Amino acid sequence: MKLIVIGSGGREHAIIKKLLENKEITKIYALPGNGGIAADAECVDIGAKDKDAIVKFALDNKIDFAVVAPDDPLVLGVVDALEEVGVPCFGPRANAAIIEGSKVFSKNLMKKYNIPTATYEVFEDMDAALKYLETAPIPTVVKADGLALGKGVIIAMTREEAVDAVKSMMADKVFGESGSRVVIEEFLEGPEVSVLAFTDGKVVKPMVSSMDHKRALDGDKGLNTGGMGTVAPNPYYTKEIAEECMKTIFLPTIDAMNKEGRTFKGCLYFGLMITKNGVKVIEYNCRFGDPETQVVLPLLESDLFTIMKACRDGSLAETEVKFMDGSACCVVVASKGYPQKYETGFEMTLPTVGGDTDIYVAGAKIIDGKLCNAGGRVLGAVGKAETLEKAIKVAYGVAKEVKFENAYFRSDIGKKALEAK
Ligand code: AMP
Ligand code: GLY
Repeated sequence: MKLIVIGSGGREHAIIKKLLENKEITKIYALPGNGGIAADAECVDIGAKDKDAIVKFALDNKIDFAVVAPDDPLVLGVVDALEEVGVPCFGPRANAAIIEGSKVFSKNLMKKYNIPTATYEVFEDMDAALKYLETAPIPTVVKADGLALGKGVIIAMTREEAVDAVKSMMADKVFGESGSRVVIEEFLEGPEVSVLAFTDGKVVKPMVSSMDHKRALDGDKGLNTGGMGTVAPNPYYTKEIAEECMKTIFLPTIDAMNKEGRTFKGCLYFGLMITKNGVKVIEYNCRFGDPETQVVLPLLESDLFTIMKACRDGSLAETEVKFMDGSACCVVVASKGYPQKYETGFEMTLPTVGGDTDIYVAGAKIIDGKLCNAGGRVLGAVGKAETLEKAIKVAYGVAKEVKFENAYFRSDIGKKALEAK
């Protein structure tokens, strides 16, 4: 079996390594992959959004199955294009990926089908949005409708911040057309949980829960990032809460998408907040989370390729999705200065991993035969163990052995989770 995996981050590296456990798979191409992924897959210089080139490559190379991992190609319809020429895919079609691609769509869906979420208003006109903000409860949350590289959400602690956010999105167009409509919503409080779930559009099988750490600095200080580390499972996500979510959120979402004629197949990511008034959906993503995947897949005991095929073929009900007991922790090693300015091109040395440790590379390039850092988030150092406490220690053991100039990582990944226990 020859596969392509579309994308270039740590998430894609984790997916590729897990897929390779299936011995039927003889070859994986990463489009475009990165210098670290190159150790496990053949990287091909085709961008994740280059639909025509992806389709041509899949046909020329007689690809048996494709995994489309990032949001952009999913929203752009790369799955539709590949399926049209007979290449089976893991991932939703564009008409279902809209659940992430448009916040207005997802908020309206939740309202229509009574799925718990923050109350909200949608604005297409800036003056109306500014008028609403004159009396809106503060803090409030301003969200650009479309994809915005994970930066389209502003938590406004003051009225002025909310006004600035609306102006920057709607007048200055900092996120381009993504900001031509905005959602202004109720500010919610409580612990956050990420739940990734496999679905074939009929049944939903949630994966082990996880906790992301989005801020750049210890103590959840500093700027928002793509994610500085994760742990799984998330101790706030108890069995009772999982049951509540299945009943009030997961199944109703799958049903709602079917009723709308937008059957979702693939990995649906539920960003949840456990509030005093029950669990609410903060956001949906139409894909695996990054860096959640880097702690969830190492705990998966069942075969990932079998599950992915079942999601596509509609046989997930009969397919085993089993996770091991125990915990995993991922510490993201970044280039110092991320998410703002940072330097790249420094040679890296990585420790040997295997067994209970792993490394998933996100931003690296091979320059003159040497692996060098090439991005803000460079890699995820992962450890797993029977307890969360041990998993954190193991992950930090790996992170400390990653050497390159200006390497930086948070020192408190998992601390909040340990305190919750
Ligand atoms: P996103 O960039 O869509 O992943 O969202 C960024 C973060 O904003 C989420 O992980 C939450 O921490 C926060 N957030 C989004 N919506 C709300 C809300 N209604 N109330 C409080 N925090 C929120
Ligand atoms: N870790 C959050 C995301 O993948 O969107």
